Amino acid sequence: MLSREDNELLTRTGRGTPMGEFMRRFWIPCMLVAEIPPADEAPKRLRLLGEDLIVFRDTNGRVGVMDEFCPHRLTSLYFGRNEESGIRCVYHGWKFDVEGNCVDMPSEPPDSNFRRKVRATAYPAVTRGGLLWVYMGPKESPSAVPEFEWLDLPANQLYASRWEQDCNSVQAMEGELDGAHVSFLHRRIDQLDEAKNALTGSYFMEDMSPAWTISDTPYGFIAANRRNVEDDKAYWRFNQFLLPFYTMIAARAGFPRMTRMWVPKDDEHCWVIAVNFRPDQPLKEQELAAWKNGDNTHRKVFPGTTQPTDNKGNEYNIDRNMQKKISFTGIAGIRAQDAMATESPGPIVDRTKEHLAISDTAIIAMRKRLIGEARALADGGPTPRPASNGGLYRVRSHQTLLKRGKGYEDETEVLQALKA
Ligand code: FES
Ligand SMILES: [Fe+2]
Repeated sequence: MLSREDNELLTRTGRGTPMGEFMRRFWIPCMLVAEIPPADEAPKRLRLLGEDLIVFRDTNGRVGVMDEFCPHRLTSLYFGRNEESGIRCVYHGWKFDVEGNCVDMPSEPPDSNFRRKVRATAYPAVTRGGLLWVYMGPKESPSAVPEFEWLDLPANQLYASRWEQDCNSVQAMEGELDGAHVSFLHRRIDQLDEAKNALTGSYFMEDMSPAWTISDTPYGFIAANRRNVEDDKAYWRFNQFLLPFYTMIAARAGFPRMTRMWVPKDDEHCWVIAVNFRPDQPLKEQELAAWKNGDNTHRKVFPGTTQPTDNKGNEYNIDRNMQKKISFTGIAGIRAQDAMATESPGPIVDRTKEHLAISDTAIIAMRKRLIGEARALADGGPTPRPASNGGLYRVRSHQTLLKRGKGYEDETEVLQALKA
């Protein structure tokens, strides 16, 4: 459990809050490049860390990410005209470029220089790895985009999707770091997967209470969990938590790798951005087809939206008959099962009421790390190291079988596999 005070600290990311200021030291992935409107077309709305923004491309293709509300009298620039290298507010015609400079103020006398004193709040933005990244922090703070190994892969080796989840981002991310739930929430009761190490395979049934090793790193930690399987072996899963909201869950050998991002939309909603990639070859047709259809790795959404089809409002289309005969939950799709588990406590779970157990080891470590980092910054500490050192993010998750009763720290194969 957490104290009420720590729960507030962990979950509030508005400007001026300790966690909000901490997160603003990092570049933040916020939408797919494919979602950015074309040059001179209507802007798109984007809510991020509780701030209402607009995203548009100017005539030269530069991406603008700025405060939705015109600095004059706060009319929404979403209704503005995106024309000739800037967005023009339709109330009095003030016009701003992607850097927030006011480039025209036709409602003021021609000899006025008021235009030079007014700025729109605009955030630096870049596109990499199929995503739009924005920096909302102080200009003087050193910052770098996290150099995930997939950032500069060719488009045919990378697939990304984005959907919305109706709860706080930490709460959503807890579902990802909670390796123990796989044996239950995702269980099939009619059959086991042929692959023992698939999420619906026998390894997760052979040992339902994994043991944990948390190894702190400069970027976050490695959350290793192991299950006793096959008489004398241990099935290890090495997952990664990377500040401030990234996870890498171990994929099976030969399968595409993944990184997921749990980005605060506001304190009660988050954006989940999921990237799958193959570092050395194009993705397969059938993989892409399954992901586009919202299979177990991505989430099925209503076309053209970020709204999942199986959601809280329709009780995830739970089928109680299916729950009796086919799956533990009666909810189709691993991602929807996860969403049910993390959304159903309410938008911000009351962590003063929990009873945390050994299975929650990774979650406890993540909360502790986030709270500690946010406090250190609020107490006048320096910019968190990973915020300015993108190279720290060149790591991988991994899974393997080892001899039972040993740690992994001396296993060269594992240590090598965890580097990108
Ligand atoms: S409110 Fe935007 S120009 Fe007046
Ligand atoms: Fe899950």
